[in-house]
This record gives sequence, C-alpha cells and structure tokens, in this order.
Amino acid sequence: MSDETRPSTGSVGMDRQLAIYEAGTRQVRPRLPIALEELKEQAREATTREAWGFLAGGAGAGDTMRANRRAFGRWHLMPRMLRDVSQRDLSVEVCGQRLPCPILLAPIGAQGIYHAEGELATARGAVEAGLGLVLSTVSSQPLEAVAEAMGDLPHWFQLYWCRDRDLTASLVERAEKAGFGAIVLTLDVPLLAWREPDLENAYLPFLYGDGVGSFFTDPVFRSRLERSPEEDPAAAIRLFTRVFGDPSLSWDDLDWLRRTTDLPILLKGILAADDARRAVDHGVDGIVVSNHGGRQVDGAIAALDALPEIVRTVDDRLAVLFDSGIRRGSDVLKAIALGARAVLVGRPYILGLAVDGSAGVEAVLSNLVADVDLTLGLVGCRSFADLDGEFLKSPRS
Ligand code: FNR
Repeated sequence: MSDETRPSTGSVGMDRQLAIYEAGTRQVRPRLPIALEELKEQAREATTREAWGFLAGGAGAGDTMRANRRAFGRWHLMPRMLRDVSQRDLSVEVCGQRLPCPILLAPIGAQGIYHAEGELATARGAVEAGLGLVLSTVSSQPLEAVAEAMGDLPHWFQLYWCRDRDLTASLVERAEKAGFGAIVLTLDVPLLAWREPDLENAYLPFLYGDGVGSFFTDPVFRSRLERSPEEDPAAAIRLFTRVFGDPSLSWDDLDWLRRTTDLPILLKGILAADDARRAVDHGVDGIVVSNHGGRQVDGAIAALDALPEIVRTVDDRLAVLFDSGIRRGSDVLKAIALGARAVLVGRPYILGLAVDGSAGVEAVLSNLVADVDLTLGLVGCRSFADLDGEFLKSPRS
C-alpha cells in the first residue's frame, strides 16, 4: 500500500513506522539512515572540511559538547503500564502559542554552507514535518523569505544584538512585520569562542558572505555603506564583522528591547539559576536553557544538568525551554520530565539538510517526531501535561 492510500492509525509514530515497514516488503529501505550516527558519516562526506568543522565542532577540546550527551545518560525513564495511551496529543503551549509538538528547530546560522537553498530548504522540511523553527540572525537567506516559507507554522526570530542599535531595532522590526511570533535573544555569544576545528581550518563562514542574508538586505545596514553589498561585497562583509555582536550588553539593555517590540521575548543561553531569576525580574516571557551545543564555553556545565535548578527557581513564572544534546525521542521526554516546556534541536536537522536538502530535513524531523510520539505512549502518557519527574529516575533518586 502506498503512503497516500494507507489509512491513518491516528498516531504519527505508528503511521511513520508502518510506512517504513511496508515499504520494506517492497524492498524499499529509507532513503536516509535512521540512526543519526550513520547519517553523520554521510553528512561529513557531503560537506566541505570547513563546513563540517563549523557544524560538528565545539569550543576548546569539545568537553562540554560531549558532557551534554553524557548528562542524558544519567537519567532513566520509568515507563508505567495500563494507562490507555491509544490517543495521544503532542501539542504544547509556549508563550501563548500552540506548538504542534514540543520541538522547534534551533537557530543555526549560515546554512548556505550546507545546501544552496540554506534556510529555505530547512523551512520546507520543517513544514513537511509539521514543526516550527527559530531562525538565526545570521541566516544565509533573508528573514522575510524564510517567514513566508514557514506559512502558518510557528516561526520565531533569534536575535544577535548588534553594536549598532538602529540596526538591531531594524532587524526586530522586520521580524515583527514578517510575522515572526517571538524574539529569542541569544546571550551566550558576547564574543566568539575559541573553536579549535574552525581555527585549524582558518575558517569563518561570514567572511565568505555566508550568513549575512538579513544584513545585506537591511535598510539600516545598507545606509551605513558607501556602495551597496552587491557592488562592494568585501566592504559589506567588513562592516558586518564590525557591527556583529555587542559584548557591552548588560541586563538593563533588556528594557530597551522590551520597549522596541510587542512580541514575546525569550533569552537563550541561560545556565545559572540566578540568571534565570534575573530573567524573571526583567519580565521576559521565556528562557532557553542552553550552552549553545557546547560551542561557547568549554568546561561549562552540561545544559541538562543546569535544567532542574532553573525550573525550581523560576517556578512557572516564565516558560523554560531547553537545548543542547537532543538527539532522540527519549531525550525530548527527559528534558520535558525535568521541567522544560519544549526543546530545540540543532545539529541533527543540518545533517539531513547536508545529505538531502529539504527532504533530508523532513526525514530527520519526522523520525524524531515519530520517536517522541511512540516513546510518550510507551512510558504511559497521553500528552506532555502527564509527563513529570515521576517518570524519571537517576541513580541517586
Ligand atoms: C548554532 N547555534 C546558534 N545559536 C544561535 O542562537 N544563533 C546561531 O546563529 C547559531 N548558530 C549555530 C551554528 C551551528 C553550526 C551550530 C551547531 C549551532 C546553537 C544552536 O541554536 C543550539 O543552541 C545548539 O545547536 C543545540 O545543541 P545541539 O542540538 O546541536 O546539540
């Protein structure tokens, strides 16, 4: 039976796995490897050495990147039986918006180095898989085009604060006008970290004009140039490197952002409980507990290890999201059982993008959603509202 004619079981997880098993009876195997470890090998072959280093590398020796994964291994799910899990609802509410599933694509910059269509291919893959995304400030494609490709699915804009306040305001204003549903201000890149693979390759994508799609199209950015980026790309790239990021930022600057936009504001890159408390004090709508996938401070705490204390500290006064190390369905469940309302997934979808464009993104994400759906039912929950710390054990508890 083809995908189109098979009646739905009413379960995204069951539908996806039955489609795969039935195709197997016709000697058709999935186009992309199911296991991310296998996909990683294909993606490495499909990309340049430089682009691969930028994706797969972390800060310093990569200790925090590995610690992110190890932290998941310290928690174990405790499945419960006989709880009627025939109907499951994966949707959750975050900052007043309903997400079809508690997974968003994490903002990943300069996607043009993995695929010619970059973030547009990613957006199409996300739409096919029914997931929302967070678009990076340093996207290869202009933000308006990506917003359009996302249609009705949730799309939020990740903001890197620029040294030029008018430019920052312009990016926020454009995001709001284009229909982005929230501003996710990333805090953990006041400076670019010491990243050994990139230094080894002497490579930063922005210097080659990748990841500047929203800058080169910005009226304020363009007004700062004598000649347009089309006429003199080298000068435009030089300007980008001068305005990108603002290490002088402090908590009081958040009030300016609050005044600048009506959109919900989330702070990405929180690890310390005291910073989470400050976020509450400054009236933001949410935070993303994250160490940037281990790309900023090597030796920093694993993001999952930071999550429980933060959840206790904010005590539901804002939405807590999580990223750094999410790879499979069980990881999503663990983060949510520890108190996250939703998670962001980073590197895995870029592997799909590098190997097979939008179809690759769709495959990776649809597999993840199927895994989440099945695992949720298998632990005995019908929705994420049912999933709490009771479903987790650590060797210490
Ligand atoms: C990132 N990340 C990131 N974050 C952000 O706020 N803005 C950005 O432009 C980028 N760019 C970026 C590029 C690449 C190549 C990677 C791998 C990551 C961090 C990202 O949003 C997220 O925090 C991590 O990727 C999550 O960790 P995992 O899922 O990759 O382990």
